[in-house]
Amino acid sequence: MKIAVLPGDGIGQEIVKEAVRVMEAFRSEGYPIEFEFASIGGKAFDEAGDPLPDSTLKLARDAQAILLGAVGGVQYDSLPRPKRPEQGLLRLRKELALFANLRPALLYPELVSASTLKPEIVANLDIMIVRELTGDIYFGQPRGIRVNPAGEREGFNTMVYSEPEVRRVAHTAFKIAMKRKCKLCSVDKMNVLETTELWRETMIEVSKEYPEVSLTHMYVDNAAMQLVRNPKQFDVIVTGNMFGDILSDEASMLTGSIGMLPSASLDAQGKGLYEPIHGSAPDIAGKNIANPLATILSLAMMMRYTFAEERLAGRIEHAVRQVLGKGLRTSDIFESGATLVSTSQMGDAVVAAL
Ligand code: IPM
Ligand code: MG
Repeated sequence: MKIAVLPGDGIGQEIVKEAVRVMEAFRSEGYPIEFEFASIGGKAFDEAGDPLPDSTLKLARDAQAILLGAVGGVQYDSLPRPKRPEQGLLRLRKELALFANLRPALLYPELVSASTLKPEIVANLDIMIVRELTGDIYFGQPRGIRVNPAGEREGFNTMVYSEPEVRRVAHTAFKIAMKRKCKLCSVDKMNVLETTELWRETMIEVSKEYPEVSLTHMYVDNAAMQLVRNPKQFDVIVTGNMFGDILSDEASMLTGSIGMLPSASLDAQGKGLYEPIHGSAPDIAGKNIANPLATILSLAMMMRYTFAEERLAGRIEHAVRQVLGKGLRTSDIFESGATLVSTSQMGDAVVAAL
């Protein structure tokens, strides 16, 4: 198992360190895990003037899987766009064709009261969001800021999806739905946007190959509302890059904390980039208080999706459940009566439970 480790910025360094300890624990049991570190994001810009240096891209290409922390920081916000940390991550996704982003929103029973929603609304929640990751308005050309004929500055971006791009992520979503409850909801805005009209037509066409799956459609504004009204109506959601970015942050809060949610970004061969869905949280960076569980759970997804090591994935998830069951909580999921632990203490506990 050849893994590239890209901790990135802010809390990325601290949380990845704890996931690496889990890899080391497996390695000491004899699993053939090899990993190598490289810089990405603001850190890579500071060191090499580029948020995705060639050496990092090469390491990522040569690896079978990539574990990433987070990128970004306010000190980089005034850089020219191609130099910003986020561009390092976006380029990495694009260069490696990691088009299918899986973002599970799973509520651990121990965290029911950490959600801001009523327990009966979120108990046993288990949703899988499949977000297209290499197209849409994130990458569409032309884009920029220009002066229009009236002499005013205007910003513009292009929302665009080709049929093959929609089709391939549709297949991913239908296959995942087949392994779950055979219920897929495609989210679009086809009442307004042609791009998503094509999206819906393509979803319907692909659905013919999966007669067992019941496909429904929902406008994105309604989906945002339904996610907090009655989230358990969903099983698998498939949507475009930008809608998926927004809805997955929303869905994460149903589960108590964005600090709990892992993700996998896969190419057509199952190679993957695994990262927590949260950001670099500069406000708490370096304080040893960030929640490392989303990163540790991302490693579980790596074991499952890239290496087909279901047993190792299950052991990680079980260990996380055990430490939560013992009442250990980082500050983001803390509630009275629980034991407040630091980032590294949470890592200690997971490794011990393994
Ligand atoms: C995410 C993040 C990224 C995105 C940023 C950091 C570029 O919000 O992974 O959801 O918008 O895709
Ligand atoms: Mg996001």
